[in-house]
Amino acid sequence: GAPVEADVSKLAPGEMMTVEWQGKPVWILRRTEEMLATLDKLDDQLADPNSDKSIQPEYAKNPARSIKPEFLVTIGICTHLGCSPSQKFKIGAASGLGDDWPGGFLCPCHGSTFDLAARVYAGKPAPTNLDIPPHKYLADTKILIG
Ligand code: FES
Repeated sequence: GAPVEADVSKLAPGEMMTVEWQGKPVWILRRTEEMLATLDKLDDQLADPNSDKSIQPEYAKNPARSIKPEFLVTIGICTHLGCSPSQKFKIGAASGLGDDWPGGFLCPCHGSTFDLAARVYAGKPAPTNLDIPPHKYLADTKILIG
């Protein structure tokens, strides 16, 4: 499929947009400083914290799983059986997932949970983190996916 351009200039911090690439939803989440600060505290709770078994381009193999930490670009399809996880960005009790929920995604099908870098929590049915598609920046706020 052809690459798809995403304009993220209007995306506010904490917001997510979806573009379609190869028939798949690609999520772009603009992470706040508060969101990014959660990522380095979770390693011992995650199934593949360093994304060794997960799919992402080499340039996104870092704790934020991104080129620019501010923008997470990930495929919104659960790596278990392909359901669509929901946004659970609220932190703590307001999320409905407990006081210590640091924000992320929840798959409604079998309960896999993912952090704000789309990394899956340990002991959940999804075997790997959500896939990161190939992408690059054409300009500061313009991302080419594919
Ligand atoms: Fe997501 Fe099963 S499809 S947990």
